[in-house]
Amino acid sequence: MKEKFYVTTPIYYPNDLPHIGHAYTTIAADIIARWNKRQGKDVFFTTGTDDHGKKIVESAEKAGKTPKQFTDDLIPEFKSAWKKLDIKYDRFIRTTDADHEKVVGEILQKCFNKGDIYKGKYEGLYCTACESYFTEKDLDDGNCPIHKKPVEKLSEETYFFKLSKYQDKLLAFYKDNPEFILPKRRGKEIINRIKEGLHDVSISRASFDWGIQLPFDNSHVAYVWFDALFNYYSATREKGKENFWPANLHIIGKDILWFHAVYWPAFLMSAEIPLPKQIFAHGWWTLNKEKISKSRGKIISIDELIGIAGLDSARYFLFREASFGEDGDFSKSALIARHNNELADKLGNLVSRTSALAEKYGIEKTENQLLEKLNIDKIKIHFNEFRIDKALSEIFAFIDETNEFIQAQKPWETHDKKVLYQVVDALREIAKLLAPFIPSTAEKISEIFRTNKIKKSPILFSKIEASVSSETSRKTNKSGIQNKTMENVKTIQFEDFAKLDLRVAHITRVEEIPKADKLYKLSLNVGELGERTICAGIKEFYSPKDLKDKKIIIIANLAPRKLRGIESQGMLLAASTKDKKIVTLISPDKDIEAGSIVG
Ligand code: MSP
Repeated sequence: MKEKFYVTTPIYYPNDLPHIGHAYTTIAADIIARWNKRQGKDVFFTTGTDDHGKKIVESAEKAGKTPKQFTDDLIPEFKSAWKKLDIKYDRFIRTTDADHEKVVGEILQKCFNKGDIYKGKYEGLYCTACESYFTEKDLDDGNCPIHKKPVEKLSEETYFFKLSKYQDKLLAFYKDNPEFILPKRRGKEIINRIKEGLHDVSISRASFDWGIQLPFDNSHVAYVWFDALFNYYSATREKGKENFWPANLHIIGKDILWFHAVYWPAFLMSAEIPLPKQIFAHGWWTLNKEKISKSRGKIISIDELIGIAGLDSARYFLFREASFGEDGDFSKSALIARHNNELADKLGNLVSRTSALAEKYGIEKTENQLLEKLNIDKIKIHFNEFRIDKALSEIFAFIDETNEFIQAQKPWETHDKKVLYQVVDALREIAKLLAPFIPSTAEKISEIFRTNKIKKSPILFSKIEASVSSETSRKTNKSGIQNKTMENVKTIQFEDFAKLDLRVAHITRVEEIPKADKLYKLSLNVGELGERTICAGIKEFYSPKDLKDKKIIIIANLAPRKLRGIESQGMLLAASTKDKKIVTLISPDKDIEAGSIVG
């Protein structure tokens, strides 16, 4: 039987569209789920939404909808965001799902029968944004310490859960399971706070009815966190999923660690349900060093995130830029820099170069000394301890080794098939390791090198200019003339321009083509891209002698075309007057090497 692995994301409040913060938790879980699947485990991966509670009631009121209608309208947004981010979850659970509501009702009754739930009066403070109770001493300048917003004074009849009863049991549990809360230092903070004393917690509200009714008092609904935390368990009450409980890993943000590390195990102890194995609390992202906030426009939507440099670059960036567990700062320019310098220059170039050389010279199996430099065990340990950023850096360290190897071996000069085999084989391994992080690129790389008949790959990552927005460029054009002209030009995005592979080529031979009065057949040396033949309509303007040994610029990735029965494998760049009476080749200096990139 396969080993089971159950990983969860928090369930998100569907009171607004998901943003980069939600994406981060969800992609982390997706990476870990994909990795464990590749290790041969039977994986169950859940995500979903936290539909109940005061926050949703208030947002629905503002939108003029019922809470049910309001949340129903937002769920497709979450599902489509996860689809765009290539999240392969197994169940999307909503706390309004009938099976979940049934489980929570039964558990409430069980805890009540046991005497762990009792009626009382709550007098205190509440922050609806975090759906959390506070005491005066928790506040930050009179505001909620997390949202920095005023808190509400509550004075109402409520049912309490005897959290205080579980203080010692919790401390004993952490002692026996020192890896329960990760990163470990966050566990220490929790333990210190518990040692200050745990108060019983209110677990019902009677002032609104959007929630799961208490089975023993239908004038109250369950407190949203009691309801929400049990989603992890109720998702496994589905037929065939029972053995996935207890969960292996709950991935959450550091802001909701207290609920997960204290309330959740105590509720489970009371309900006599086994406890999950680990909780990993990651850090928070700021945006250009500022707190993410929709009201202040400091937010990155899922579409914006993907729009900067594509999905895989976004997924890559989030787990390369910050240590998993620590805070990180997001900026468009940092993402573009990593996309250009690491994905396009290091990985993309390695793939295109290797595939072009392997297509030309072939590969020959041999012992792979290069692969010996890949420390798979270290990567596995990083993954098992959820240091996913470290796993990714280790993979990239090997990509650097591979680049150095090919640079030192120069297979474009030696045509050494054994060297090329080693690099191809290394790239097959790299693709497998990268698959959890950048699934679609990894799939493309695997496909390119799947068999020994390798074809030159299309460009995987086009470079992006660290974009000056049209807004800024407009401001910098003082004269206004350029703006006027730009209005008449059909513009393209930089990404489209970057798709062109422009190269310096050396003309090694010039031949006439029978019956063609305008065309020459040119043989070119394009450095690492090898030899090319192109047909060029420049006969009226240049003699063969003028052309031989000239350096020109060609578009090297244009689909080949047959001209007069000859396959033309590219196009040269030339400038011409409107009437085409003068045509001159764009020609770089002689000392620039053939194959050099233009752009
Ligand atoms: N509904 C609760 C969770 C219940 S789980 C039983 C909730 N939802 S939430 O929609 O507010 O956010 C959930 C997740 O998004 C948390 O893990 C939180 O840390 C994450 N993030 C929201 N903003 C974030 C950042 N700016 N950075 C990183 N993650 C952040 O809490």
